[in-house]
Amino acid sequence: MSRKGILLAGGTGSRLWPITLGTSKQLLPIYDKPMVYYPISVLMLAGIREIAIITTPEDQPQFQRLLGDGSQWGVSFTWIIQERPEGLAQAYLLTRDFLDGAPSAMVLGDNIFFGHGLPEILLRANAQPSGGTVFGYHVSDPERYGVAAFDASGKVTQIIEKPKVPPSNFAITGLYFLDGRAPDIAAGIGPSPRGELEIVDVLEHYRAEGSLQVERMGRGFAWLDTGTPGSLLDAGNFVRTLQDRQGMQVGSPDEIAFRQGWITRDGLAERAKVFGKSSYGAHLDGVLKE
Ligand code: G1P
Repeated sequence: MSRKGILLAGGTGSRLWPITLGTSKQLLPIYDKPMVYYPISVLMLAGIREIAIITTPEDQPQFQRLLGDGSQWGVSFTWIIQERPEGLAQAYLLTRDFLDGAPSAMVLGDNIFFGHGLPEILLRANAQPSGGTVFGYHVSDPERYGVAAFDASGKVTQIIEKPKVPPSNFAITGLYFLDGRAPDIAAGIGPSPRGELEIVDVLEHYRAEGSLQVERMGRGFAWLDTGTPGSLLDAGNFVRTLQDRQGMQVGSPDEIAFRQGWITRDGLAERAKVFGKSSYGAHLDGVLKE
């Protein structure tokens, strides 16, 4: 069964209020594109074409207006509503029918990844027939994330959510490749003291049975934070610096769809026309001329 994607774009974005009082966090710009383009690009780079998009009830129409049914990129979007933000692991309960036993790759709608070799590590994770793969990234402030603890041999001994005293500097990024049992495992965990179904409890289940791979994303990767006004701006500046310098786009689902062979040259030309004079449109024109 081929792996299906889950994009989790719910939540109140309260750490960014008042910016996110009127719109979803994941629709905010990261330089020249909506935030959600970046995690969608990650799923597409992993070769995933069936994607469930989970949003709040209020925000779903805006996401649909932006993203449509996915056919413009040769993928299909299934729209799912999360009534209340009751934890990341709830996504597996909401997508049980959609997944229908298939393995999944879930990405959080506010996680931005960049790096040489990203497609390779994504394809490797996608190829795992069972168990789970998550990515550990060295950060200066691990207490803000799920964190992995390792023993002397480098084996993962625990995954802990926002520990006051972090056992390592390795945060677990918001990208989870899990096998087809994830909905059952999520159904078996209870809410945490803060009342949420925690993703780390699902990961702990895999770890305890010895089937969780924690791949380290090394120095060559950027995993950008978008959680505060400052980090949001920094992420946009990072993308801008990189794109301007290299003349290449980060997080362009149109370009990825074309390079994956999921849309034709005519399809891409059509899209470039849609974007007209914007810098995103100009970039697509450039891809067409290569
Ligand atoms: C969530 C997860 C955390 C993970 C992080 C990655 O935290 O609970 O384990 O490290 O996403 O972005 P949140 O950002 O919802 O506080």
